Amino acid sequence: MRQALASVVSNEQIAEGVYVVRLDEPNQARAVQPGQFVHVRCSTGSDPLLRRPLSVLRTGASPVNRLPAAHYEVLYDVVGRGTEILSRVRPGDLADVLGPLGNPFRIERATRHLLLVGGGVGIVPLVALAEEAIAHDVSVTLLCGFRSASKVFPPDRLPAEVEYLVATDDGSVGQHGLVTSLAQDQLGWADQICACGPVPMLKSLARMDRPSRIPVHIAMEERMGCAMGVCLGCVVPTRRGPRRVCRDGPVFALDEMGWT
Ligand SMILES: Cc1cc2nc3c(=O)[nH]c(=O)nc-3n(C[C@H](O)[C@H](O)[C@H](O)COP(=O)(O)OP(=O)(O)OC[C@H]3O[C@@H](n4cnc5c(N)ncnc54)[C@H](O)[C@@H]3O)c2cc1C
Ligand code: FES
Repeated sequence: MRQALASVVSNEQIAEGVYVVRLDEPNQARAVQPGQFVHVRCSTGSDPLLRRPLSVLRTGASPVNRLPAAHYEVLYDVVGRGTEILSRVRPGDLADVLGPLGNPFRIERATRHLLLVGGGVGIVPLVALAEEAIAHDVSVTLLCGFRSASKVFPPDRLPAEVEYLVATDDGSVGQHGLVTSLAQDQLGWADQICACGPVPMLKSLARMDRPSRIPVHIAMEERMGCAMGVCLGCVVPTRRGPRRVCRDGPVFALDEMGWT
């Protein structure tokens, strides 16, 4: 884990209230793995006091994008004070960033077909994972649900090899309804599934009929305090007892959550 002052390269709005910040920090860009997150200080003062956790979207360390090797990106939806302040950062500003943090997703050795299921900003760590899978010749289908067309993650920010299917709550683009309705048709052929999104989405994935041989991993986005395993603010109940999302996760085996 590193604390660094990363230089802001760009801060671009890519959907309604959704921004991608590109940061220049070679050590973090090199070290980060799909599913890991960074803990970002949003202001130079004490409001807000706590850093905000954001997953890494893409890193220049990946061979399948055109980012310079020292760059990485995070994506955020403006939902409150911290992300609103972030939306005002400009190229040349310095961002105080701790990370990478947490345990990453792992693509199993035998996996040839990877199914990714995201809800809203839960797509972020799945984009990083899709890039890693494509780099290892694993085929990827990415299903993602959004509130409406205005919130959809743009397909041109994904590797061309990724099959990307969208569902929206209001039917303004893609399939009308929840992303889990898209997932049901896709479960049969995948040899590994990874997901990230709101807990109700993850729970409904847990309750779907799927072959027991398919490993399923999820990334949790619980609210956090320290992100270093100390404050216990991010603890979730699991079959193995209480676990800290920041240190023991954010990636967990779905079966570990006991959501049956
Ligand atoms: C490991 C991890 C990775 C994350 N990755 C991303 C990401 O890539 N992109 C992104 O946009 N967000 C991500 N989040 C959520 C993000 O951290 C919060 O949206 C952010 O901290 C909100 O800060 P704020 O000051 O703008 O809003 P606040 O003022 O803190 O909160 C505004 C509203 O958002 C709700 N909220 C805040 N945090 C969460 C949360 N973790 N889960 C659900 N609701 C929340 C609050 O209850 C409140 O209603 C991630 C969270 C975790 C733990
Ligand atoms: S956020 Fe403090 S223990 Fe996880």
